[in-house]
Amino acid sequence: MGESPTRSRERLVAILQLAYSGELAAAHAYRGHAASVADASERERIRVIEEEEWHHRRLVGEMLAKLGRGPRRSRELRAAVVGRTLSLGCRVSGWFLPMYAAGKLESRNIREYENAARLAREAGLDELVDCLLTMAEVEWEHELYFRTKAAGHGFSRWLRLWPEPPPKRSIRA
Ligand SMILES: [Fe+2]
Ligand SMILES: [Fe+2]
Repeated sequence: MGESPTRSRERLVAILQLAYSGELAAAHAYRGHAASVADASERERIRVIEEEEWHHRRLVGEMLAKLGRGPRRSRELRAAVVGRTLSLGCRVSGWFLPMYAAGKLESRNIREYENAARLAREAGLDELVDCLLTMAEVEWEHELYFRTKAAGHGFSRWLRLWPEPPPKRSIRA
């Protein structure tokens, strides 16, 4: 509120640049994560999540292009390193930690796309709002999956889970 549309637009661009690179890191990490789990249904679900992150990255890239902007090179580089490191890390860290880390990260992604949707509306870019909210909803599903997995593991008694996001219907509210 109270902010000029130009300011909202700049803040939106900054969030989209972060999200664009964040999706790259996530997609790399999930590739390693999927390869590291022994259970076939878990591997398949994580593989689909990886595809959804690549899809988000394409959508966010298109939004940036429409706004006449592009990714930040330093962020892209960092994301590629972080993503590949996490991908390798999944092979040695055991089952629980990647599930936990993924869930925590996804809960942040929900808020990131909700904020982006709010800024898009404030910037008068109404045509972006629905797509951003849909991405928030997909991240909500990702969070639920990893939360459920982590919560079902004995370690979650020792390591408290991140705060549960509000219900999915609240994303559009
Ligand atoms: Fe995503
Ligand atoms: Fe996600």
